[in-house]
Amino acid sequence: MDHIVSLCKRRGFIYPGSEIYGGFANTYTFGPYGSELRKNIKDLWWKTFVQGRRDMVGIDGGILLHPRAWEASGHVAGFNDAMVDCKNCKARHRADHLIENALKVDAEGLSEEDLTKLIVENDVKCPKCGEKDFTDARNFNLMFKTELSKTKDDENIAYLRPETAQAIFLEFKNVVDTTRVKVPFGIGQIGKAFRNEITPGNFIFRLIEFEQMEIEYFIRPENWEPLFEEWLQEQHKWCEMIGLNKEKVSEYEHPQDKLSHYSKRTVDIMYDFPFGRSELYGLAYRTDFDLTQHQEYSGKKLEYRDPQTNETYIPHVLEPTWGVDRSILAVLCDAYHEEQLEEGDSRIVMKFAKCIAPVKVAVMPLMKKDGLPEKAQEIYDTLSQKWNVEYDDGGSIGKRYRRQDEIGTPFCITVDYETIKEDDAVTVRDRDSMQQERVKIEELGSWIEEHLL
Ligand code: GAP
Repeated sequence: MDHIVSLCKRRGFIYPGSEIYGGFANTYTFGPYGSELRKNIKDLWWKTFVQGRRDMVGIDGGILLHPRAWEASGHVAGFNDAMVDCKNCKARHRADHLIENALKVDAEGLSEEDLTKLIVENDVKCPKCGEKDFTDARNFNLMFKTELSKTKDDENIAYLRPETAQAIFLEFKNVVDTTRVKVPFGIGQIGKAFRNEITPGNFIFRLIEFEQMEIEYFIRPENWEPLFEEWLQEQHKWCEMIGLNKEKVSEYEHPQDKLSHYSKRTVDIMYDFPFGRSELYGLAYRTDFDLTQHQEYSGKKLEYRDPQTNETYIPHVLEPTWGVDRSILAVLCDAYHEEQLEEGDSRIVMKFAKCIAPVKVAVMPLMKKDGLPEKAQEIYDTLSQKWNVEYDDGGSIGKRYRRQDEIGTPFCITVDYETIKEDDAVTVRDRDSMQQERVKIEELGSWIEEHLL
C-alpha cells in the first residue's frame, strides 16, 4: 500500500486533504490524474448501466433530503456502530473491529452489552498503547448532522445522506409518472454520501466523504431470485471491464442473522486489497421495505399499477451498489506493477484498462526545435478533440516514457526528424509491451481508436 499511496501523491492522483493546513484526517483531493480516472469510471458506469439499458433511467437527487426520510429508512434509529474509548491514550475504536482483530471472531451486529463483555472477559488490549482500560461500548449514529438556519429546535436538523439510495425511493412515483418505465426497471444514481465513520482508514478504502453508484431495480417479488443472480453477474462483468484481476474478486454471502434491517439477502463483491480481502461492492434484496416505509411516513401512495393487468402493488427492489472510491482503490492496486527491465533498469507502470486510463495518449516532440514541436502540437490539437491527450516535452524520451508509464498512458507518440523529413509518420510506443510501431499521421486517429478497445 505504501508504494501505491506514494505514487498517488507523487504523480498527482490523490493528495492528502487540506495539506497546507497540516492536513485534515481522512480527507483527500483527487488530483489531475485521479480526477480523470474517477470521471472515466463514473462515465463508464453511467454508459453501461443507465444509457446502455432500455430498462434503466437515471436521476440526480440531493444530498439533503427531508429528515423524515431518514426516520422512515431506519437510519435515525439504527444506522449505528458501537465504539469504545481507551481511557489511557484516548484512542477511539470501533468495538466490533477491535474484537475481530484481537480475537479473530465475528463481532458484527452484537449488542453494546455483549461487545463490552467480550472486551473485558478476553483482556482485549488497545492496539495503540497496549492498555486494557476501555469505556463501555456505546452506539454512535454514523449520519452527519447539519443545521438549517432559523431557530434552534430539532426541526432544523438535516442529515447529509449516508447513501444515495433513498433519493431514488423518494422519486419512484415521479419517475413512474413522467417516463415510460415498466416493472422490471431500474433507477441509477451517482453521488456523494457521508458517514461519520469511527475508524476510517486504509487510504481511500473507508472514508467519511465518498461517492456511490447505486441502482434500485424495481421488480415483482416472485422474480427476485433469477434477477438477483443476473445482477451479481453484471457486477462481476463490471469488475472485468475496469480491468480487475478475476482471481482477486470473490463473493461473501451475509449470514441470515447478520443481514441489515432492510435486506433479505446480501452478497458482497470482495476484492483482495494489499491489506486483505474486503468489501468492494454489494448487492441486496431490499424487498418492499423502503417504499412501504416511505408510503407510511409520507402518507403518499407509492404503488405501481401494472398496465396490462391493472393490478396495483408495491414493487420489490434489488439494489446493486458500487463505491466510486473503492473502485478507484481496487483499480490502482491492480494496475500497479514494478518491472525489472534489461541492464538492471526498472520501471513502475500502471496497467489501467485502456477505457479508464486517465490519459490515453502522450504526444512527444523528440527535440524542442527544428519544427518538431509545431508538428507535435498539430497532432495534439487533432487527437485532443477526442481523447484526453498530454503534450510532453520535458527531459529525455526515456524519462518521458517512465513518467507516462507511472500515470498509465497506453500510447506514447514520438515526433522525430523522419516525421517531418521523410515519412509523415510517428513512432507509437505501447505501454505494456514497450513495442514501437511506425504509424502514418493520417491514420493515427483510427489506429488509436482501434487499439484503445
Ligand atoms: N445503499 C446501500 C449501501 O449504502 P453499503 O454497503 O453501506 O450499502 C455501498 O455501501 C458501497 O459504498 C460499499 O460497497 C462501498 O463500495 C461503498 N462505501 C460504503 N461505505 C464507505 C466508506 N466509508 N468509504 C468509502 N466507500 C464506502
